[in-house]
Order: sequence, then structure tokens, then C-alpha cells
Amino acid sequence: MKERTLALIKPDAYAARNCGKIITVIEESDLDIIGIRTLTLSSEQARSFYAVHKEKPFFEELISYMTSGPIFAMALEGEKAIEKWRNMMGATNPAKAEEGTIRNRFGTDLTHNATHGSDAPETAKVEVDFFFKDEDFNR
Ligand code: RTP
Ligand code: MG
Repeated sequence: MKERTLALIKPDAYAARNCGKIITVIEESDLDIIGIRTLTLSSEQARSFYAVHKEKPFFEELISYMTSGPIFAMALEGEKAIEKWRNMMGATNPAKAEEGTIRNRFGTDLTHNATHGSDAPETAKVEVDFFFKDEDFNR
């Protein structure tokens, strides 16, 4: 069964002009990019998107980073899209991400790690809806 997940190309990867290379990785997989847009998150949007982390010591640093410049938001679709995209990204910490993964190739450190991916079907639905309307997928 096909599922959808949310992928973000974070401000560090956008600023380094790595969006094209990251999109190429997705296109070389069997996942489809069914929605794509670019925007700069407001502080309010970033705080809402990452609300699950609001008590964490790294929260303010995360918000400052995520609002520092433009991002790409993409809705990906395919069999096991959530797990596949997370495997393509690699571990949260680029230093621990497997060779050849996106965070290994394009991430800098634990905060500046190039991309985001939803972690479960429930969060994927909420996160896709955060950036896209259903009518965006009428192609
Ligand atoms: P994401 O949500 O962005 O896909 O990343 P993730 O599931 O692999 O990691 P998560 O624990 O959800 O953390 C969200 C983002 O917060 C930043 N972070 N900084 N300095 C720190 O200790 C720290 N830990 C996490 C990263 O940007 C991480 O992707
Ligand atoms: Mg996460």
C-alpha cells in the first residue's frame, strides 16, 4: 500500500545549493514527489511544526536554525515511503549517518542535518497537511 511522508530540505542544505542533489536522490529511488514548494518558516510555524520538542534543551537552537532561510517542503509518495525516506536520510547526527546517506553527504552537525522526514503514519499525515492542501495533489 502506498503511503505519504513529508520531506524538508532544511535551510543549511538550501543555502549550500544542495536541493537539486537531494531531489536527484529521491528521483533515483522509487518514491514520487507529489507536492513541492519553497518557503521560509516563521517562528510561529517552526514552533508549531516542532512542538513535540518544545521542552528539549535544543529547542531554541532548532527554531533559530529552521527559520534562518528558505526550505523546500515535499510530499513523497510510495510503498513504505516513511521508512524509505528516513533510510535515505540516515541518522539524525551526520557524524553517525551511514556513508552515502543524505545527512552523511550534506549534513554538518547534529543541528544542521540537511533534511527532515516524518517518523510514523500519524505524524506524516499531520506534517503533510501542515504544508499542503488536498487539492495540491490533484495532478
Ligand atoms: P527530523 O525530525 O528533523 O527529521 O529529525 P529526527 O527525527 O532524526 O530527529 P529529532 O529527534 O526529531 O530532532 C529534530 C531535529 O532537531 C535537531 N536536533 N538538535 N542539538 C541537539 O541535540 C539536537 N538534537 C536534534 C536536528 O535538526 C533534528 O533533525
Ligand atoms: Mg523527528
